[in-house]
Amino acid sequence: MPAETGADAPALTIAKFDKALHDRSAFSCGFGPIDNFLKSSLSDQIKAGMVAAWVATADDDPAVLGFYTLGAMAVRSDFGPKKWQRAGVPDIPVIYIRAVAVRKDMQGKGLGTALIVDAMQRCLGIADQMGAAAVVLDVLKDDHFDRRWRFYEELGFRPLGDSENPERVFISMANVRATLG
Ligand SMILES: CC(C)(COP(=O)(O)OP(=O)(O)OC[C@H]1O[C@@H](n2cnc3c(N)ncnc32)[C@H](O)[C@@H]1OP(=O)(O)O)[C@@H](O)C(=O)NCCC(=O)NCCS
Repeated sequence: MPAETGADAPALTIAKFDKALHDRSAFSCGFGPIDNFLKSSLSDQIKAGMVAAWVATADDDPAVLGFYTLGAMAVRSDFGPKKWQRAGVPDIPVIYIRAVAVRKDMQGKGLGTALIVDAMQRCLGIADQMGAAAVVLDVLKDDHFDRRWRFYEELGFRPLGDSENPERVFISMANVRATLG
């Protein structure tokens, strides 16, 4: 999805990650484990079929400015909205955003929002092909937790109600559809 972050900003493109095309070497989002995941684990996880990844780049520059990954997951039906409990099944299929991050010098310019919106659009497409009742993610817990929580709240995510994963939030696919119109 092409995206602009401002009048003078370069045109941003969000495309499927290709290790031959995209340069991860200078990426740093300020959170070491995410940087390490992008540089050291992502390719293996893609090869193993565990995640798919999309990256943002600007113009013809291959440097990764931001990325997100998606994977399949199931959550217990006693969490989330009442209609999940009424379904009478133990697990609810959802799509999990395993990671989302923006390079430090690009943060605060709308790219994180553009990545999540792109992810939600992609999830809607996936949910047309297979059961997926919500998009789920775990909000990273560190000194910036409250600020990060607000970021997801404004995008429509709500706590899942999983006491073992209290930072887990979700947005139902119906709400994704309504939000993206
Ligand atoms: C969280 C993150 C993806 C947001 O991307 P972004 O491009 O900065 O976001 P946007 O410009 O679209 O929106 C800005 C909002 O993002 C959040 N945000 C921005 N920088 C942040 C940071 N360093 N830590 C936590 N949240 C941040 C804030 O809610 C901010 O709104 P505010 O300025 O009103 O407080 C990005 O800051 C990032 O990569 N942080 C480090 C890694 C991370 O926290 N990943 C998320 C894991 S759950």
